[in-house]
Amino acid sequence: DPWPGPWAADFSWNLKLPFLIIEMGTRPTLREVERIPLQASTVDNWSQIQGFEARPDDLLICTYPKSGTTWIQEIVDMIEQQGDVEKCQRTIIQHRHPFLEWARPPQPSGVEKANLMPPPRILRTHLPVQLLPPSFWEVNCKFLYVARNAKDCMVSYYHFQRINQMLPDPGTWEEYFESFTNGKVSWGSWYDHVKGWWELKDKCQMLFLFYEDIKRDPRHEIQKVMQFMGKNLDETVLDTIVEETSFEKMKANPMTNRSTVPRFILDQSTCSFMRKGTVGDWKNHFTVVQNERFDEIYRKKMEGSSIHFCTEL
Ligand code: A3P
Repeated sequence: DPWPGPWAADFSWNLKLPFLIIEMGTRPTLREVERIPLQASTVDNWSQIQGFEARPDDLLICTYPKSGTTWIQEIVDMIEQQGDVEKCQRTIIQHRHPFLEWARPPQPSGVEKANLMPPPRILRTHLPVQLLPPSFWEVNCKFLYVARNAKDCMVSYYHFQRINQMLPDPGTWEEYFESFTNGKVSWGSWYDHVKGWWELKDKCQMLFLFYEDIKRDPRHEIQKVMQFMGKNLDETVLDTIVEETSFEKMKANPMTNRSTVPRFILDQSTCSFMRKGTVGDWKNHFTVVQNERFDEIYRKKMEGSSIHFCTEL
């Protein structure tokens, strides 16, 4: 079958997932691997994930959730397709790059999809560095990491958990503040995730980007991605990519805005997946007291790390 296979054009799989027949209205609980909370289906499939065989020509997109994964995926795909908008419309973004730890039978798992994908493969993961399948370190493939400042990430994750029935209920904003700062959310601690990947960036082939930089100067950051991918596209193609990967375009694009995901999985009636796409929305959520407490926690958790986010945050 051509990549992505027939399953990619078939959105009805959403309706067939047996795990959804489990009482509607209840939210799943997370399970832990090496003290990192993950979705139960991922943990069930853990040996397959850990046994994944990476290839030297793989490119792995790595992010903590809500850091602009979909955005960088669309940028990478636009580069790969040399700015051909129609080719990027071939299927929804979730299907274009296998999600390594995704496991929802009867759908093929992320690993199974990756195994079917012809090289050079572009894959994605939210796994913290210590949980990455070991073969990635053996083959010396490329990693593209995108980090987003912790406060906006927390706000985005809170709203996402509210609408995503596949994740635990986030509770109140105050409760979520505790869960997030204690790493009691799916894929674990933001602090450890970002620090872990940052520390490795000079020891392997990694391009480490910041959401805030892409927002401020998309053209410049997209050029960096192009170079990293070894592509040399002309200025007009670059213009197209900048234009097509803007928040407004991606919010209106059914192939990137998750509108094909049924409401009982992702209920976008109260909040869109493409929610705001801005830097600094945390200011509309944090109280002064919460902000002070967050800064204090941040200082302690990030102590000794050289990673630096935008100063105005
Ligand atoms: P907000 O909730 O702050 O709006 P992920 O893809 O990792 O789940 O990240 C989702 C976040 O990235 C959301 O943040 C979403 O709006 C934002 N996003 C997606 N596409 C974007 C784009 N083209 N420009 C800016 N932000 C984008």
